[in-house]
Amino acid sequence: VKVLRVALLGAGTVGRKVATILLEHADDLAAKAGCRLEVSGIAVRDATKPRAGIDPALLTEDAAGLVANSGADIVIELIGGLSPAKELIVSAIEHGASVITANKALLASHGDEIFAIAERNGVDVYFEAAVAGAIPIVRPLRESLVGDEIRAVMGVVNGTTNYILDKMSTEHQDFNQALAAAQDLGFAEADPTADVEGYDAASKAAILASLAFHSSVPGSAVYREGITDVTPEDIEAAAAMDCVVKPLAIARVDEQGRIEVRVHAAMVPLTHPLAMVHGPNNALVVEAANAGRLMFLGPGAGGSPTASAVTGDLVTVARNRVRGVVGPAHSLYQALATAPMGQT
Ligand code: NDP
Ligand code: HSE
Repeated sequence: VKVLRVALLGAGTVGRKVATILLEHADDLAAKAGCRLEVSGIAVRDATKPRAGIDPALLTEDAAGLVANSGADIVIELIGGLSPAKELIVSAIEHGASVITANKALLASHGDEIFAIAERNGVDVYFEAAVAGAIPIVRPLRESLVGDEIRAVMGVVNGTTNYILDKMSTEHQDFNQALAAAQDLGFAEADPTADVEGYDAASKAAILASLAFHSSVPGSAVYREGITDVTPEDIEAAAAMDCVVKPLAIARVDEQGRIEVRVHAAMVPLTHPLAMVHGPNNALVVEAANAGRLMFLGPGAGGSPTASAVTGDLVTVARNRVRGVVGPAHSLYQALATAPMGQT
């Protein structure tokens, strides 16, 4: 049986769960992937920290060495942030490894560069977990709906802010109490400013817009407002109008091909499906010319939901490597400028 070596970078909220699945469900994954997935090492900041279910012998503080010297076929980046995540991903690609990442901040700022390097080196970069946790949305946009014309993608793409506004509205919790709970539950980013000031949602909205509209939208181009200015009085005023305050991400393209992407809190009528998205759940509505309106709903943050998306990518990438192929959509987007619709 073929063996593929997997290097895991990060064993925090998401990485720890991915490691557990890899180690405890090795036979099941092997049957699905058509090869054994052997963990070559797990990079962390502090290898002395006790981590239940993980053999300490697998841990290393030398992430760069693990990527360069462990013979990894697949590198899973779950460290987060821009650096050293970017350097590690580039090194992995240059060493011929396929990459899986949940790092939306990095993809929204350096995705074009990373995908260009991956194309040159003929390896996969998969990132289903980077947007909306467990909800499959990257593959539907990249593959299932690629023959359609997507006009809008909108919804709730940040679990922490949805959780906070939901707790403020349904349990009258204060902002800081709800944020602390979201951090304890592992929904928030290492620096929760990314969540509450809308940077995380802006990164995800940029990735969605790039995929949906075959364009390159950086996170910095997204109009962004956080939720720190939303007061209990705003929430009460919304309730008085049979509405609820939701953290929305909206990406649209008009008839002239002009793209608009924004993230901000907004009042949503209680009768709207997005009003029923509670806790750390996310939801996305996709409007496409032929498909019509589609809705995706589910857990958008947390260790297990995110690990589901990561391990889905892992099996897919492993299958590709076993067959010696690169996935059908190995760019963040397929630019219409270089491959116009209707032409070959
Ligand atoms: P955590 O902060 O919980 O974990 C980060 C891990 O990376 C830790 O194990 C840490 O080590 C390790 N690490 C940090 N810096 C280094 C370094 N320089 N070298 C080696 N290891 C390092 O993050 P999450 O698990 O929450 O998130 C990981 C990624 O997944 C991020 O990109 C995040 O945006 C994304 N994501 C997170 C979701 C969530 O719900 N949490 C959902 C979807 C995506 P140590 O343990 O020693 O500190
Ligand atoms: N901090 C992010 C959120 C994690 O709350 O949605 C999932 O991407």
